[in-house]
Amino acid sequence: KEIFLKNYKEPDYFFEKVDLNFQLGEETTLVFSKIFVSPRVEGCSAPLVLDGVDLKLISLKVNGEELKGDDFHVDSRHLTLSSPPSGKYTLEIVTEICPQKNTSLEGLYKSSGNFCTQCEAEGFRKITFYQDRPDIMAKYTCRIEGDKSLYPVLLSNGNLIEQGDLEGGKHFAVWEDPFVKPCYLFALVAGQLESRDDTFITRSGRKVLLRIWTPAQDLPKTAHAMYSLKAAMKWDEDVFGLEYDLDLFNVVAVPDFNMGAMENKSLNIFNSKLVLASPETATDADYAAILGVIGHEYFHNWTGNRVTCRDWFQLSLKEGLTVFRDQEFSSDMGSRPVKRIADVSKLRSYQFPQDAGPMAHPVRPHSYIKMDNFYTVTVYEKGAEVVRMYKTLLGASGFRKGMDLYFKRHDGQAVTCEDFFAAMRDANGADFSNFLLWYSQAGTPRLNVVSNYNTEAKTYSLKFSQEVPPTPGQPVKEPMFIPVALGLLGSDGKDMPLSSVYHDGALESISNNGQPAHTTVLRVTKKEEVFVFNDIPERPVPSILRGYSAPVRMDSDLTDADLYFLLANDSDEFNRWEAGQVLARTLILTLVSDYQQNKPLVLNPQFLNGVKSILCDSSLDKEFIAKAITLPGEGEIMDMMEVADPDAVHAVRSFIRKQLAFELEDELHNTVKNNRSSEKYEFDHQNLSRRALKNTALAYLGSLEDAEMTELALHEYRTSTNLTEQFAALVALDQIPGKVRDEVLADFYNKWQHEYLVINKWFALQAMSNVPGNVENVRKLLDHPAFDLRNPNKVYSLIGGFCGSPVNFHAKDGSGYKFLGELAVQLDKINPQVASRMVSAFSRWKRYDETRQNLAKAQLEMILAANGLSENVFEIASKSLAA
Ligand code: ARG
Ligand code: ZN
Repeated sequence: KEIFLKNYKEPDYFFEKVDLNFQLGEETTLVFSKIFVSPRVEGCSAPLVLDGVDLKLISLKVNGEELKGDDFHVDSRHLTLSSPPSGKYTLEIVTEICPQKNTSLEGLYKSSGNFCTQCEAEGFRKITFYQDRPDIMAKYTCRIEGDKSLYPVLLSNGNLIEQGDLEGGKHFAVWEDPFVKPCYLFALVAGQLESRDDTFITRSGRKVLLRIWTPAQDLPKTAHAMYSLKAAMKWDEDVFGLEYDLDLFNVVAVPDFNMGAMENKSLNIFNSKLVLASPETATDADYAAILGVIGHEYFHNWTGNRVTCRDWFQLSLKEGLTVFRDQEFSSDMGSRPVKRIADVSKLRSYQFPQDAGPMAHPVRPHSYIKMDNFYTVTVYEKGAEVVRMYKTLLGASGFRKGMDLYFKRHDGQAVTCEDFFAAMRDANGADFSNFLLWYSQAGTPRLNVVSNYNTEAKTYSLKFSQEVPPTPGQPVKEPMFIPVALGLLGSDGKDMPLSSVYHDGALESISNNGQPAHTTVLRVTKKEEVFVFNDIPERPVPSILRGYSAPVRMDSDLTDADLYFLLANDSDEFNRWEAGQVLARTLILTLVSDYQQNKPLVLNPQFLNGVKSILCDSSLDKEFIAKAITLPGEGEIMDMMEVADPDAVHAVRSFIRKQLAFELEDELHNTVKNNRSSEKYEFDHQNLSRRALKNTALAYLGSLEDAEMTELALHEYRTSTNLTEQFAALVALDQIPGKVRDEVLADFYNKWQHEYLVINKWFALQAMSNVPGNVENVRKLLDHPAFDLRNPNKVYSLIGGFCGSPVNFHAKDGSGYKFLGELAVQLDKINPQVASRMVSAFSRWKRYDETRQNLAKAQLEMILAANGLSENVFEIASKSLAA
């Protein structure tokens, strides 16, 4: 059933207070719920409809009286009280559930012997009957009873107010959460866990106990998560003035988890891969992800929990904003330009394709069948770009004023994206024109820029035109409000001072506290408009969309010479990198067309020189160099083609990599040698930059596939003392098929077989291999003793990894599509959320040639015909076919 934003109605009944009691058992668990109901409008007598899925109703009382059969009705999704009392009353419901059999990992389930919950978005209805919607905000208490030896630790939200022993080897704990919350933030954890404890004193003097819970053997791996948590708490105070509001903050790591993590009030639950790290078992990328996600979930305490969403269409209200906050946090903890580059790459590789495909939806979707399918890169990452644009337009202090007003107005409420917009606008008396379209129009806007320098008048004009492509259900679009951060470079490579711009018939002054500015933000709001700069002494090179000030695709009349100039000189590091990317994209696309016409491939020497000068520029940050010498991904390139040709793109990108490695062999070799270190692993900018550059150089050299390089990579593999370098050496060796590769892969497995997070990387590496015919190897790995279809991380590594191989997933014989189709049907019976994420790999099937289209289409049809298909997979498969 499809649900529409336009049909939103306020609830007839509010729930003021909820008392839960769980009796945890080995076969079944009993859930007692006592709800204090009050009508929104006095005298209301509408039926009360509660959501409930996979529940066995044991008893039902209203005001203490057991209800009889004709007073209520139960179907597979609801419990309906046809004529509830008017006025306030209590509702007591007892249900029975089977967490042990719950493989969907939604609601209450068991993971590695421990109980845990995941309620967002609509999982609470698998625990008990409830109005499972975020605008029902109540105060909760939660009593948990369970076997003391099996479940020595009993956790829920808020404060622990009582605990003690019971008969029969059982014990109990009672938790009380003083803050109102929607049920999606409810959490319960019970099991054999131990905690790393620390404290944080808030700036107003509250002493907060911080506890990170894992099985005992993993405790040593929680140090980085604890460091990240304390850094996040401090950062939110410093940057947003936001403090933690309870005396206890719990984080629990669980190995079976559908997504990354969950911000349940004071009891965050994490996928263990985003908590556990040691130098030997986690890479720099893992350390960075842990920092970002620990921050993200902590930041939700204000942006998500204290102020939550009115309905699920508003998801980006909390997610876009919280992603923006975690991006800013990571920027402040590391390198801002490098973080920006990584975030924009992610947007381009994943969000742009989504926004151009059958699942394209606005940041605030208009409808959904299954909300879980809308936890997307559009809602999260494009949503974060929308929040970033407010900051670009208002400046840091204006943005802060808007945030302050947002909390002042809405603390304790469930609100909408317009409420956020209004707070930003009102706090600054700002004119945001048609900005709200960013929430309602899907598709990536195309921005075209034409420049003109008038030598006589000494004026420089930029003409912008924009187009928003049609997307499913939105054939015609309005022009958007695009903030364009701009600088003009003189021939000396420096930014020209900008004092005024002529636009829309008026001269607007550009000032930066009375001083001329070096970067200005142009407000592009129309289909076409011109900006003219006066007193420009020479033809400048424009640096447009600095810091990537809007999530658009830009085309401009910049020449290659302009781009090389920006690559060498731009004061905006993001745009320096970007200039290199634009050059690389053009180069790859040109060579792809040569390849398709069977022309010989030749690498442009100017490009080679550009890469060389970046690689050898010792004044640059090493992490920046690593990013700048990395070619755009294959997905990003395919996304720019009329008909995506995975074989050609892969062949050309490999050719360029190999050619660069061949020409720059000495420089790359020196880069590897000069960036070795025998010191103990530190996750700090200096060391992680060094490793990033070294590993990038090593990967280039691996593409040479010769004996000398094999020796070098083997040396790195054997001498490395941390996973970042060891795994990079393994990746380099993996490119060189043969005996050495097989031996090293086996060695790596033997070494790490007891560290399942490391083994997941081993699965992913093999799954992603572009060795032709790799599907057979992946099939074999499905039967590997370390593999398990019920664990999402393993599925994402092996099956998700395979779908990332352009050569094998898109194999022309259809073997890759067939593999995924069969697995999707199998997975759907275990875990619909995970299955639907895997099926998404088919969603861009129309982008390929006819042979591939037919093969992929056949699999989508086969999936849709499967018996008992979940709504999750149905939505993705049917929308993919329809578009
Ligand atoms: N709110 C969580 C976050 O921090 C994600 C929850 C995802 N749940 C789901 N069923 N898709 O982003
Ligand atoms: Zn989130």
